Amino acid sequence: MLTTIEQDLSQLFGQAFEANDLSFDFGATVRCTRPELGDFQCNGAMAAAKQGAGNPFVTAEKVAASLADNDLIKNIEVVRPGFINIFVNEDYLSKKLSRFSEDTSFGAAEDLSKTKVMIDFGGPNVAKSMHVGHLRTAIIGDSLQRIFRFKGYDVVSDAHLGDWGTQMGMLIEGLKKRQPDLPYFDKDFTGPYPEESPVTIQDLETIYPEESGLCKTDDEAAEKARKATLELQNGREGYIALWKHFVAVSIATLKRDYGELGVSFDLWKGESDADPFIPVILKELEEKNISVKDQGALIVPIVDDEGEKIMPPLILRKSDGAVMYGTTDLATLYERVYEDNADIVLYVVDGRQQQHFKQVFAAADLMEMNKRTTYEHTYFGTVNGKDGKPFKTRTGGVMKLHDLIQMAKEEARKKLAASNFGTDFDDEEKEEIAHKVAISTLKFADLRNYRIKDYIFDLEKFSEFEGKTGPYLLMQVARIKSILRKAGEVNAVPGTLQATSDNERALTFKLLEFVTALDKTIDKRAPHFLCEHLYNLAQEFSSFYQKQHILKEADEAKRASLLKLSSICLNQLEVGLELLGIETLERM
Ligand code: ARG
Repeated sequence: MLTTIEQDLSQLFGQAFEANDLSFDFGATVRCTRPELGDFQCNGAMAAAKQGAGNPFVTAEKVAASLADNDLIKNIEVVRPGFINIFVNEDYLSKKLSRFSEDTSFGAAEDLSKTKVMIDFGGPNVAKSMHVGHLRTAIIGDSLQRIFRFKGYDVVSDAHLGDWGTQMGMLIEGLKKRQPDLPYFDKDFTGPYPEESPVTIQDLETIYPEESGLCKTDDEAAEKARKATLELQNGREGYIALWKHFVAVSIATLKRDYGELGVSFDLWKGESDADPFIPVILKELEEKNISVKDQGALIVPIVDDEGEKIMPPLILRKSDGAVMYGTTDLATLYERVYEDNADIVLYVVDGRQQQHFKQVFAAADLMEMNKRTTYEHTYFGTVNGKDGKPFKTRTGGVMKLHDLIQMAKEEARKKLAASNFGTDFDDEEKEEIAHKVAISTLKFADLRNYRIKDYIFDLEKFSEFEGKTGPYLLMQVARIKSILRKAGEVNAVPGTLQATSDNERALTFKLLEFVTALDKTIDKRAPHFLCEHLYNLAQEFSSFYQKQHILKEADEAKRASLLKLSSICLNQLEVGLELLGIETLERM
């Protein structure tokens, strides 16, 4: 595996401490926070002094003296009370970058293919079109699946469609009212049922809200919907055939919306797929005395070590026999643990479902699923409007995802025109640019915030070409591409990296921080660390380019080296953006 500069230096300084009869661990070196003092620093002499090693300044001097002539080091300084500041050698630095840049993952990937990570995200519902509430799970979940896969994990993503609850009964009853003669409702019908769907997604989107509204006020309608749901779940053939149409019609629309966002799933399983596991878990919960009867319902009490109730119980079955969202989730987890053999299951689901997952996970712990698998609610905050309340349309309605994307595109077109970007391109390219800028706007604005925080949706700000935005990064990528293109026109191409000059130093160090940023992202399941890295990298390139006129450089070997550095930077930006699910542009 490639070693980082920190690792090389820590090794070197560790050995130097050891040579002075002190622990190897004191050699740990870290990046210097003040670049004028050094690139790296080692504070081990002070730590050693605390453990009785004597005057830290003397220790530091001894260690420093023994390493002064080392090839890795350009200059070493000891500062009272015992800091060791290190400037690394330019040649070593460029070789290091060279090696990392030859690796397709910049040194980040490992063989983790034996660790299976299942990522549950998206969670769209049948018959309901996606709205702004589905934005974050799609963006964060997709980015995490890309990042975990890149790192080397065996990743399986699942959309976990909401396809099994009472809303299904409502749709069945709603359709029966409108088209009572369909064969699906005729118990004597022997089939086969028609292959063509009796409903479109528009039909479903009209029927569902009407029926759901009705069921809130009309007990008889609610009872009918509940019964139809139960019949469906018990396998009534006509209902199953009808339900399959509902699901297929919905998935087609969902795939269109996710496709627009550039988000995909390995599995399109749904809540219904957990159904066969429900009797299995109910049996185990009963046998292990985990579930109890409570006023006709079946529940799992959630208690602490002292037996005190710490939150409402997980309801497995209501007194009318209906199973709940939590039951389905527990059964799904059971399948993921015992059938899919997942090592880690991440639920990228809204933070407002925290209690739900605490209940499900507490029950799973009691069943000892945690002995085999780690499960986490990788939750996120709410997208708010400027009034601080969940984001709505101007008229106060729920904002559809499709409309939101159109809005972002409209804003992108406006900003592109105002900045005079691509005004002479043909319409097709203009449209592609607007689309990619829009998607980068939405995704970067979401991912750059720590996921558990709420954020305020401000399309105007998010789509600026200045500041920490997706469009800014796309512009920087296009800019480097244009530099390389212009160089190509005069036959100047990237060559071998030369020893790093002062102008290139900061950019080189930034490029070498990729692995750290990626690992932190994985560790915290939080892509904002990667966003931060990419933004800083783009800025570092800008200041490098300002100081260093690449195309005017007369020395050919030097120019080839500068172009190489630029192309490495371009490559890392593109790889990084792809991990965020953001597509780049050739020019703009
Ligand atoms: N369909 C659910 C909803 O719209 C989200 C599902 C999230 N995943 C899960 N395993 N519960 O709220």
